[in-house]
Amino acid sequence: ALVSMRQLLDHAAENGYGIPAFNVNNLEQVQAIMEAANETDSPVIMQASAGARKYAGEGFLKALIAAAVDTYPHIPVVMHQDHGQSPKVCEGAINMGFSSVMMDGSLQEDGKTIADYEYNLDVTRRVVEMAHARGITVEGELGSLGSLETMMGDKEDGHGFEGTLTREQLLTDPEQAADFAKRTQIDALAIAIGTSHGAYKFSRKPTGDILAIDRIKEIHRRLPSTHLVMHGSSSVPQDQLAIIREFGGNMKETYGVPVEEIQEAIKHGVRKINIDTDIRLAMTAAIRKFFAENPEKFDPREYLKPAREAAKKICLQRYQEFGTAGNA
Ligand code: G3H
Ligand code: 13P
Ligand code: NA
Ligand code: ZN
Repeated sequence: ALVSMRQLLDHAAENGYGIPAFNVNNLEQVQAIMEAANETDSPVIMQASAGARKYAGEGFLKALIAAAVDTYPHIPVVMHQDHGQSPKVCEGAINMGFSSVMMDGSLQEDGKTIADYEYNLDVTRRVVEMAHARGITVEGELGSLGSLETMMGDKEDGHGFEGTLTREQLLTDPEQAADFAKRTQIDALAIAIGTSHGAYKFSRKPTGDILAIDRIKEIHRRLPSTHLVMHGSSSVPQDQLAIIREFGGNMKETYGVPVEEIQEAIKHGVRKINIDTDIRLAMTAAIRKFFAENPEKFDPREYLKPAREAAKKICLQRYQEFGTAGNA
């Protein structure tokens, strides 16, 4: 059934686990996530970015998720809008039937200029007012995603700030977070701790100086009842990169967020973990391999099947690793 995200995150907090929120753009990704959830008895958060809605069309995404709910009636499913850029976008998503929305007021409406705190408070508060009246969950964001190695903002997915930021901007301030949660009444808060979107997060396996798990602990201590959200949390598996390179891909050395760091974060209030890139990498690796080994094939079903299987494997792993399994 379609459920509110608040309900799932409250259960996760009470029982000390995390829930991966997977980005979806097409049929195979929705099927992969649902098959993995069904096999592990996991609750599901599927999220659509503005890019996803542009690619697939809102109506198609909504129908795909509705089909998932119909096919697996025993699995709780959240349909979440990822990175809403304005109250208007959030309202549109709610009218479309989304059960949860993110108002990303860390950026201005253009999606690339850093917003000031008062702006963020104002737009987020307005969305909470509108959403809560209709039983819809709201995620806000405070702080700027970006790299503590290069001090550059997060621009890889085409949104985010392009330019240099200060350490202050790249790490969510616990005092400000407490004030923000109190004044907006948000259900969940996305925090900045050195992660960024896309495949190129770290030039080496991250340590505490560039992936600030300790900051999560400080934030959680200051606002224990707000569910925390980690964006840019793909692990960028080295084995997937190796397959992509072996079969003609050109991806430079890069590292993601190690699963054990996410597991530590889950002990300190992180309940929603956003993952898009890992599914992209897994599908691309499978398709590259398939074409290299079967140059005569041309039926999309034949290459999308191993891609779907590869995506499902990632989902199965994360449901187990985050403790989501068994909680549907
Ligand atoms: O928010 C970031 C997600 O990875 C979605 O990316 O905007 O390319 O769909 P996208
Ligand atoms: P990744 O690019 O690390 O998968 O992050 C996805 C995300 O945060 C979507 O909002
Ligand atoms: Na990046
Ligand atoms: Zn994100």
